[in-house]
Amino acid sequence: MSADIPIKLSVNGEDRNIFVTPTRTLLETLREDLDLTGTKCGCNQGVCGSCTVFCDGLPIRACLALAVTMRGREIVTIEGAHPGDMLSVVQQAFVDAGAVQCGFCIPGMIVSATALLQETQTPSDHDIREALSGNLCRCTGYAKIVAAVSLAARRLNGTVGGAT
Ligand code: FES
Ligand code: FES
Repeated sequence: MSADIPIKLSVNGEDRNIFVTPTRTLLETLREDLDLTGTKCGCNQGVCGSCTVFCDGLPIRACLALAVTMRGREIVTIEGAHPGDMLSVVQQAFVDAGAVQCGFCIPGMIVSATALLQETQTPSDHDIREALSGNLCRCTGYAKIVAAVSLAARRLNGTVGGAT
């Protein structure tokens, strides 16, 4: 049996000191040790994108990252991806565009979309589809998800009004 290893990392702005086995994934740690179940486990092999979280500001797949490699990193999950009790601009746009059906893929979609909009607030539909190409959705057919990200972009760049 492997000994647990102590690590310290930041999760949603809070320092966490935890013990992990060498084989424990970041996804398992978030969901099972820290009760952050907003991050979903779909394929558990790096294909579906439902486990996408921010690591030091960049989106990663938590099912492919070993928790022990997260020492000193800043992780932001869907639970931390909005200001206080408010929805983020991206989350609100998903609601307003009717882009959510079962919701399973949505936390990962929101993280990937937020990462795109941190890079550019004027993405084309092609840019949006490319940025979300690693996030699979079994329900929506993607059109409303692309429309939601486009709406969020236009709200952020001021070309349409709406939630801030
Ligand atoms: Fe990580 Fe599918 S659960 S990519
Ligand atoms: Fe159901 Fe995307 S809304 S998988």
